[in-house]
Amino acid sequence: MQRGIFITLEGGEGGGKSTQAKLLSEVLTTRGHQVMLTREPGGSPGAEAIRALLVQGDTSRWEGLTEALLHTAARHDHLTKAIQPALARGMVVICDRFADSTMAYQGYGLGVDRAKLTSLYRMIAGNFQPDVTLILDLPVDVGLARANARKTNVAESRYENMAQMFHQRLREGFRTIAAAEPGRCRLIDATRPIEAIHADIAAAVLPICENKVRRARS
Ligand code: TMP
Repeated sequence: MQRGIFITLEGGEGGGKSTQAKLLSEVLTTRGHQVMLTREPGGSPGAEAIRALLVQGDTSRWEGLTEALLHTAARHDHLTKAIQPALARGMVVICDRFADSTMAYQGYGLGVDRAKLTSLYRMIAGNFQPDVTLILDLPVDVGLARANARKTNVAESRYENMAQMFHQRLREGFRTIAAAEPGRCRLIDATRPIEAIHADIAAAVLPICENKVRRARS
């Protein structure tokens, strides 16, 4: 049974998700929350091993559905070994990418049937959903230029190397997801300075966390 809070950060390349995840983790820790910061693909030893298959190598390495299955296998390992145990202990889990990335990248980007992706997700997670999802949105050319400028691991550029049109489709995908699920998702303008983005994210997340503390005390 879930007792903690599950927060996901999503968006295309170069939106600053990892920086924002760290800043959010710091502010929540300062306020006394037990925080687990994690990422996908990855976040558990098994999922990190699968990550290498996905982020390295030639852009055409996998057929789209195969790729979605690998992301789903990694997610199942991550969910069962890391995310769900942490939530059961009452922790706040901040995850840098989650299932919306599969829908955007493999669904909208690569054209894998989106109903199949929904079925795959339900198979491993049932009705489980993030409490809140922050979608960092910015124009594709700006995001790719930023991602290239601060590239720390050239071997992990498989998705960045995909065509501009692929990135455009997945940006539209994320925007469609945000519009379809306004209760869970917040679309955040990621062209602004880091502090302004962080302020928006904190404003979306802190009330949810404070509510949880209040409920636990009453
Ligand atoms: P990262 O660059 O945010 O660490 O993520 C690695 C890449 O994996 C990123 O380019 C997006 C991609 N990805 C998918 O294509 N589908 C997924 O389900 C996830 C979680 C990530």
